[in-house]
Amino acid sequence: MKITIIGTGYVGLVTGTCFAEGGHEVTCVDSDVNKVKVLQEGGMPIYEPGLAGLVQKNVAAGRLAFTSSTQEGVERSEVIFIAVPTPALPDGSVDLSYIESVSRDIAAGMTGYRIVVDKSTVPVKTGEKVAETIKRYGKPQLEFDVVSNPEFLREGFAVEDFMKPDRVVVGVSSQRPVAAMQEIYAPYQAPVIITDINSAELIKHAANSFLALKISYINAISVLCEASGGNVQEVARGMGMDSRIGGKFLEASLGFGGSCFPKDLSAFIHIAETLGYNFGLLKEVQRINSAQMDRFVKKISDTLWIVKGKSLGVLGLAFKQNTDDVRNSPAIELCQRLQAAGARLRVHDPQAMEKAGAILKEVTYVADMNEVAEGCDALIIATEWPEFKRLDLERVRRGLSHPIIFDGRNLFDPAEMERLGFLYKSIGR
Ligand code: UDX
Ligand code: UDX
Repeated sequence: MKITIIGTGYVGLVTGTCFAEGGHEVTCVDSDVNKVKVLQEGGMPIYEPGLAGLVQKNVAAGRLAFTSSTQEGVERSEVIFIAVPTPALPDGSVDLSYIESVSRDIAAGMTGYRIVVDKSTVPVKTGEKVAETIKRYGKPQLEFDVVSNPEFLREGFAVEDFMKPDRVVVGVSSQRPVAAMQEIYAPYQAPVIITDINSAELIKHAANSFLALKISYINAISVLCEASGGNVQEVARGMGMDSRIGGKFLEASLGFGGSCFPKDLSAFIHIAETLGYNFGLLKEVQRINSAQMDRFVKKISDTLWIVKGKSLGVLGLAFKQNTDDVRNSPAIELCQRLQAAGARLRVHDPQAMEKAGAILKEVTYVADMNEVAEGCDALIIATEWPEFKRLDLERVRRGLSHPIIFDGRNLFDPAEMERLGFLYKSIGR
């Protein structure tokens, strides 16, 4: 099928590329002409494992093209996906201005029947607004359908998640676009759930809020483990083997971050409020998450006594493993709080140092993870990169002026670390 994606960011580029890999003919549109130029010249604007090779392959096969013209994208394809940002406004509500302006551009470019699919995360009832907007700004008598098709991709595993999704959610208000949506997703062998648009939009916020809740739940348990001498990983293991609970998203940490969970939680709380429901449960999820960061910072300052003037090594800047994304990264927040307390920082991340450089100033960026602790008073692990598990711990210990490690991601075995001579403080163990 011919498909156009508007917005070629983390979500749009992965979606477009994976559709092309599935055999579809894809046009990716972005308003950022520099980004389009980079992609047209064979470069990559983001790091996502496996993506660069797939982009190259599908461009070479003539199934994937990039343009900054929405008009061109709308002319070329019958199905148009919207994947532009839906950032949070200061009051927690969602800024839908990009969605609105793209809907107007699509309407202006439409000459025949089109299926307009929203992939961006949006509040329930946005589909209705998009349909109204297209009707208002398009030529009279235009035929179109609006579809909601939320994304569930995890950054760092986005290609894998796209190719083997647990489910595909498709919200429609008529039967007409169903066959096309089924054809688009046929190559991926996932159950396709056909539902109404409002339910599809709610599924996205309900699912992400539930995952955030799961993390806050295990983080709350980690507090009890620390207070009682339990081990949060053992508790999670015992809970997770109950198939009704499931073992995923039960890793205690210094808190969740990223461009989705924090924003989606605030949005869902706000949406609930506008619908007359006080979603206190999710407010508590937020509170536990920020308390988890406070507790980690306190653990560091209680141990070091005075943070001012200390030199600290930090491993990890990305908001999670396998990505260069630092938006709402707990690691960056931690660095900023330690800087504010007067610490000097040496930092390393396998992929995110360039993007972090724009936000995190006056720190020393270290190319080799094994050198980050050199001359420091302590080492801090802030992101769950798997390579950090392969640290040369002997070398780290020799490099540190005091063998202290704060691990916000529980990467090492506490007993083993003690045996190696570290004072090792992690989460809930
Ligand atoms: C996405 C979703 O679309 C968002 O709703 C979801 O909640 C999080 O993920 P993401 O792909 O991560 O956003 O955003 P980003 O990487 O910033 O990419 C968005 C792209 O859209 C950018 O390349 C931007 O230049 C482009 N854009 C923005 C347009 O093409 N047109 C616009 O009007 C606005
Ligand atoms: C999330 C959702 O998983 C995805 O379905 C949705 O479409 C977009 O938002 P993403 O933000 O890319 O994906 O990352 P995710 O793997 O969910 O992690 C989010 C945050 O939670 C990260 O900061 C991560 O480190 C943290 N996390 C995750 C934990 O602290 N513990 C866990 O057990 C899992």
